[in-house]
Amino acid sequence: MLAVAVLAAGKGTRMKSDLPKVLQPLAGATLVERVLSSCQHLAPERRILIVGHQAAKVEQSLAKLAGLEFVLQQPQNGTGHAVQQLLNPLQGFGGDLLVLNGDVPLLRPETLEQLLGQHRSSGAAVTLLTARLEDPSGYGRVFANQNGAVSQIIEHRDCSDEQRLNNLTNAGIYCFNWQKLAEVLPHLTTDNDQGELYLTDSVALLQPAMHMEVADPDEINGINDRLQLSQCEAVFQERLKRHWMAEGVSFVDPASCTLSENCRLGRDVVIEPQCHLRGSTVVGDGCRIGPGTFLENASLGANVSVLYSVIREAVVGDNCAIGPYAQLRPGTKLETGCHIGNFVEIKNSQLGEGVKVNHLSYIGDADLGERVNVGAGTITANYDGVQKHRTVIGSGSKTGANSVLVAPITLGSNVTVGAGSTITKDVPSGALALGRSKQVIKTDWPEPS
Ligand code: UD1
Ligand code: CA
Repeated sequence: MLAVAVLAAGKGTRMKSDLPKVLQPLAGATLVERVLSSCQHLAPERRILIVGHQAAKVEQSLAKLAGLEFVLQQPQNGTGHAVQQLLNPLQGFGGDLLVLNGDVPLLRPETLEQLLGQHRSSGAAVTLLTARLEDPSGYGRVFANQNGAVSQIIEHRDCSDEQRLNNLTNAGIYCFNWQKLAEVLPHLTTDNDQGELYLTDSVALLQPAMHMEVADPDEINGINDRLQLSQCEAVFQERLKRHWMAEGVSFVDPASCTLSENCRLGRDVVIEPQCHLRGSTVVGDGCRIGPGTFLENASLGANVSVLYSVIREAVVGDNCAIGPYAQLRPGTKLETGCHIGNFVEIKNSQLGEGVKVNHLSYIGDADLGERVNVGAGTITANYDGVQKHRTVIGSGSKTGANSVLVAPITLGSNVTVGAGSTITKDVPSGALALGRSKQVIKTDWPEPS
């Protein structure tokens, strides 16, 4: 039997933020979401989040997670005090308790699995995760013998100069035999620099206590301030990019690009510098993205090229070319082979195969058939000040430069709209529509005197 408790009640004073620390974002998910997902595959019987500072906000952010229990710690008197709050809810629980710090988000699921395995096979009262850090400043130091048996943990601020030389660092991740921990929890004292109840002090009271050292010290990075948040983001980004490179994606300048964990990238995708892929963006095989592109929940088919453009919540078919400087907004769907050029904005519109919108246009709430050629500067006037209306353009139609199509309006197929027209009435298939004043020429026009 396994219960997991995540400590997430602290104020996070050092972040200097109105947001609770565990709700700070890291690569598109909050710290606490990352911590919770790192233990998901262990399928614990109980999952408990200890909340306190801005508890309602933290609970609300996780409301959609089924089976998560919330335990309130009020006031927040240290990590030991936090775990004391479990004495009631876990009364009679006979299994192991895995304690995770809500601000240690880079743990790999395999590491937790190993920790639990080692804890169970050794029969220790507690097994904690450690790493040897080059700079362990701020972390608790673990005092252990060569066999991995731990005698005590001393917080950085309570260490002597000599003790600080020990770089075996406490990750804040522990497997406890719950029954044994429950016996010692009431005996913690506030005899330390911060005057708090430290969970780390329970280790000296529990024997045998063992530790497991992780090979990759990045895994135990804790986040107390903005600098550490940015360092963890960099580690996470590096992991994501390594993963996608191994899957056949090229990054011309990986350091200048960011990805979200839920992005999916095909083979032979090339990501040029300064690209940011967010949400559940999907990029098909052979796409060339960037430079300078922002994709959010975008879905791109195969062999699409996107240059200096923004695509959000839009679907782009195979072989389309987007940009430079185009914006595809939510609800846009492009079929195969569309060309969307510079300074074009498309919103909530369907474009059939081979449509070209190459220059300076706004297409909103429109349905375009196949091979429509939208002339430079064509605008769908979709809003009458109160409501949005649709524009429909049949296959093979062409609009001349600087046309305005006042919606609701339907143009049949193979329609031609003369340049500079304002079209307010439906146009039947095959017709030429002109909606502009006739050109006037006055000869013998005198020079102004
Ligand atoms: C803690 C450990 C330290 C370890 C480090 C790893 C203690 C005393 N020290 O230090 O040995 O090296 O983590 O990152 O445990 N929290 C509560 N209630 C509280 C106080 C904190 O829930 O009353 C939560 C915080 O929200 C946070 C976690 O516990 O998620 C750790 O607290 P924090 O104050 O950041 O501890 P550290 O000083 O980093
Ligand atoms: Ca911390």
